Amino acid sequence: MESTKLVRLMGSALMRSMARYQSGLPKTSPEVQNLADITGIQKIHPIPKDPMHLFKSWFTHHSQLHQDSNLVANVMNVSTASKDGRVNSRSLILRRLDEDGFVIMTDNRSSKSQDLKDNPNAAFTFLWINNVDGLYLARQIRIAGKVIQLETSNWIDVYDSEPLFCKIRAYVCHQGQPVDWDTHKKNHDDLLAQFESGKHDLKRPDHVVAYKLLPTFMDFYESHGLKIADRLKYVRDSETSKNWDCSRIAA
Ligand SMILES: Cc1cc2nc3c(=O)[nH]c(=O)nc-3n(C[C@H](O)[C@H](O)[C@H](O)COP(=O)(O)O)c2cc1C
Repeated sequence: MESTKLVRLMGSALMRSMARYQSGLPKTSPEVQNLADITGIQKIHPIPKDPMHLFKSWFTHHSQLHQDSNLVANVMNVSTASKDGRVNSRSLILRRLDEDGFVIMTDNRSSKSQDLKDNPNAAFTFLWINNVDGLYLARQIRIAGKVIQLETSNWIDVYDSEPLFCKIRAYVCHQGQPVDWDTHKKNHDDLLAQFESGKHDLKRPDHVVAYKLLPTFMDFYESHGLKIADRLKYVRDSETSKNWDCSRIAA
């Protein structure tokens, strides 16, 4: 297909999804509405000194909202960069929220692990959109900082509490490597049989590792309905500093 045609098609798909989005919102005609109902500026309130408190408050709120619709709030986008500066992004589960950072679990033979070995700087982004009081509450939290690998004893309970298929995956998947489906299925079934007969305990294999991002930057974005979003940017000099500098920035 011609690229201009494709762009036009994508544009109309975007318009349709915007129309669906708008249909849940108040009508925008100035004749029938008080203008204050169709524009304004959102205000994030209150503003805690520690952005981890704001993270927890928004995360808890959206976890509850998502629970009502059987969705999860703990999936985020994780960006890493290679030695030569090529950026790569993918979705990961937030495995644990600590006072000082965000814990993820992965395969240390993966490309993200290679990136993190070469360059410990990473960025995590959460996006939550829920209908609150008939209007879309959209929140984004961007987090950046250095990532450290955790000692196994610090997080082994996270692996141990994984469901069966995840433990089997840890053994049969060499993340990112080519697989033949039939061999893959056979490996799965063989391991399951070994587990069922008590011959395999599915204990954490060495290549399953956990990392923690220690934030030095956090950016909170909030909009609700037809309001201009509000943003708060928190920065600190180092991952051990208790002094976060907070400023309101334009959306
Ligand atoms: C909802 C969702 C959650 C995921 N959670 C994880 C996770 O916690 N750990 C992980 O290694 N991969 C997870 N993945 C797979 C990653 O997105 C990615 O495909 C994989 O980690 C390989 O990434 P890499 O090749 O960039 O290293 C998840 C994927 C989805 C769609």
